[in-house]
Amino acid sequence: LGRTILVFGAAGGIGRDMINFLSATPRVESVIAADIDEERGLKIANEATRNASYLGCGTSVEFRKHDLADVEGTAELLKEVKPVVTVNATTLGSWWTSHLFPQRLVAVVSPIGHWLPNHLLLTLKLMQAVEKSGADTKVVNCSLPDVVNCVLSKIGLAPVCGGGNFDLVCEVIRHNVSKKLGVPMSNVTVYGVGDHSHYTSAMKRPWWLKILVAGRDVTKNFDIKEDLVKGSDFYTGPVHKSEPPREQTFVSAAYTKNILSIYFNDGRIHSSIPGPNGLPGSYPTRLSAKGAEIVMPEGITFEEATRIIEQARRYDAIETIKDDGTVVYVEKMAKDFKEVTGYECYELSLKQVEERATELNSLVKNAIRKYS
Ligand SMILES: NC(=O)c1ccc[n+]([C@@H]2O[C@H](COP(=O)([O-])OP(=O)(O)OC[C@H]3O[C@@H](n4cnc5c(N)ncnc54)[C@H](O)[C@@H]3O)[C@@H](O)[C@H]2O)c1
Repeated sequence: LGRTILVFGAAGGIGRDMINFLSATPRVESVIAADIDEERGLKIANEATRNASYLGCGTSVEFRKHDLADVEGTAELLKEVKPVVTVNATTLGSWWTSHLFPQRLVAVVSPIGHWLPNHLLLTLKLMQAVEKSGADTKVVNCSLPDVVNCVLSKIGLAPVCGGGNFDLVCEVIRHNVSKKLGVPMSNVTVYGVGDHSHYTSAMKRPWWLKILVAGRDVTKNFDIKEDLVKGSDFYTGPVHKSEPPREQTFVSAAYTKNILSIYFNDGRIHSSIPGPNGLPGSYPTRLSAKGAEIVMPEGITFEEATRIIEQARRYDAIETIKDDGTVVYVEKMAKDFKEVTGYECYELSLKQVEERATELNSLVKNAIRKYS
């Protein structure tokens, strides 16, 4: 097989684009595309093989039908495949599930904290399998890494990092600075501290950003929200979508670069990586074969960053994460969510995740039917 990257959730929105990026990256030797959905997964793996071949890459892409809920089976797969990097791009319900509610309710149901069981359960199972197998693999988790990685760190099962989320905001800003100043994007560096909640709060404070052009700090030259984010085609608030997004290319690229930094041990410092080493929120981070290392830029301390993140994640309905991994919700938001969906959750403990996920998805299905 060669040095392998194993992707769970390969048939999903993020997984599909990621498989295509990875297989068409020179010097990536082998990609295993795993998913419970055999029909879609096999099609994606076959297409990726042909894309890679067209582009002159000899990457091996192999599909494996696999249920990540099967911890024993995953441990066996990890022992067999020995992946350098393992990616979790599975979920029991992607972020856009909240957009299946009528427009007037989207703001109430969007805060992603309420949907945590969907993102946490399979990541937990994957990390249990990694521990069981003793595999020396670095896990990149796409499923709400800002929160999930932190919860799992409390029981010693943190993935190395996540991707996307506030890192996507940073790249939009980088792009817009480059356009406004007429300089190449490669001359612009952005460091950010924030978290996932900016999607649902339209970048309401708090967050922290530093912008450098050719090494010179130009942060103060911009009203960041007004000049660099507003009006861009980037989603930073509760807009309504009537169907799942078909392409998530930009998001997948944001994950793929993290996977590649670890795979190729390039030591690149990324603008803002969610959930590095189980930390909540998103920080400037160096990624390499050793894993993740937070790199705090001048102008902010780690303690200040932590405070910003703790305040920001309340927009995602998360009050706090206790030392045993129990998530405590912002009471008013949990109450409002219950009124719309019927799902009542003020605290979520790791022991309850499986049954709460089943309950959440059953109630949500009924509620969507009722409103439509
Ligand atoms: N960080 C970001 O910026 C960002 C952006 C978009 C999505 N996401 C997150 O990434 C994750 C994936 O999102 P998506 O839109 O690609 O979701 P999706 O629903 O399109 O794909 C999920 C995939 O998981 C597979 N799956 C489900 N249960 C499985 C199991 N037991 N075993 C194996 N495979 C299983 C499904 O078959 C599906 O192919 C979600 O958690 C989503 O919220 C993150």
